[in-house]
Amino acid sequence: MKEKREIYRFLHVTPRRIFEQLDQYVIGQRHAKEVLAIAAYNHLKRIEYLKFGGEVSIHKSNILMMGPTGSGKTYLARTLAKILDVPFAYNDATAFTEAGYYGEDVEVAIGRLLYATNQNVSSAENGIVFIDEIDKIARRSGGARTGAGARDIGGEGVQQALLKILEGEKIFVPLNVTAHWNKYDYVEIDISNILFICAGAFSDLEESSDGKPIGFFNGPGSATHEATTDDLTKYGFLPELLGRVPVRVKLDALTASDLVTILTQPREAMIPEYQRLCALDQIQLEFTEGGLFEIATAALRQKLGARGLRAIIEKVLHPILFVAPERAGERITIEADHVRRTLDS
Ligand SMILES: Nc1ncnc2c1ncn2[C@@H]1O[C@H](COP(=O)(O)OP(=O)(O)OP(=O)(O)O)[C@@H](O)[C@H]1O
Ligand SMILES: [Mg+2]
Repeated sequence: MKEKREIYRFLHVTPRRIFEQLDQYVIGQRHAKEVLAIAAYNHLKRIEYLKFGGEVSIHKSNILMMGPTGSGKTYLARTLAKILDVPFAYNDATAFTEAGYYGEDVEVAIGRLLYATNQNVSSAENGIVFIDEIDKIARRSGGARTGAGARDIGGEGVQQALLKILEGEKIFVPLNVTAHWNKYDYVEIDISNILFICAGAFSDLEESSDGKPIGFFNGPGSATHEATTDDLTKYGFLPELLGRVPVRVKLDALTASDLVTILTQPREAMIPEYQRLCALDQIQLEFTEGGLFEIATAALRQKLGARGLRAIIEKVLHPILFVAPERAGERITIEADHVRRTLDS
């Protein structure tokens, strides 16, 4: 019976269906959504294949996402895990240190996954581990780039440590990530099916290629050159690490019109959220096209991508939210001029 259900699931998930679901949340980034959908599909397929006794190995397709801040890297990965209904663990690569130094051992990443499943080992074994800020652990021997000098506590050593979890099989993981690691509270977990998604802004990648700019962060319409293994090696990654993260995907900087869409369209969009909030005070909150566009351009100026939107809206709506209960029954329309004035003040 169980097998039948598994086959059913296997047949009904397709890259296109995953893409369409991602599309309901994530605006723009068509290529990245396609790449993720394919990788996720292969991830599921691989798990099913092994369940049915497949023996020939199908290699894991761990993913490296590169793109400017606020373009949706973390959001895409989180949304993917939600859609696939698999556990998800967020990690910041800068917190990792190589074994023996004060900081997190990389095994903690798997510990977090276990924690997300309430210590359900078999569920964790199919999860997604997200490693953010991966660009920050590029080898720091250059020194000049990061100002960290020649010492390398967080760089190459961490990359070495990551090698063993990116393509490892069984490791011991702390059962309770909040407690200190000790020999009494770890559990063995098979990590060979865990999908790793690494991400980074790589905002200084252009410095690596001997002055030849790669420039994916230079804004929409700029060069679409994908970073090659060679570029990334020069940037400071170990070739062995890059080999374990074979699926590379670039996210675009979001445009003003993307940002307007993000404000209004997707599930979890911000404008409908504030409209609901105001509706509870019997206020009908509206935005003109110009008002929305002004908010979007303010976010572009801050160079924080979609990440800047909420703070801007909070500021724009501040005068209204303050008096909302006193203006019950009114209809309030936010125009470009109002946005400019509140942001300037
Ligand atoms: N393409 C997008 N579509 C819809 N919402 C987005 C998109 N990109 C970003 N957002 C919104 O902005 C927030 C911040 O984006 P996210 O955390 O994914 O940025 P990031 O690319 O990981 O940036 P950073 O490099 O700073 O970590 C998300 O939680 C989401 O609400
Ligand atoms: Mg992020």
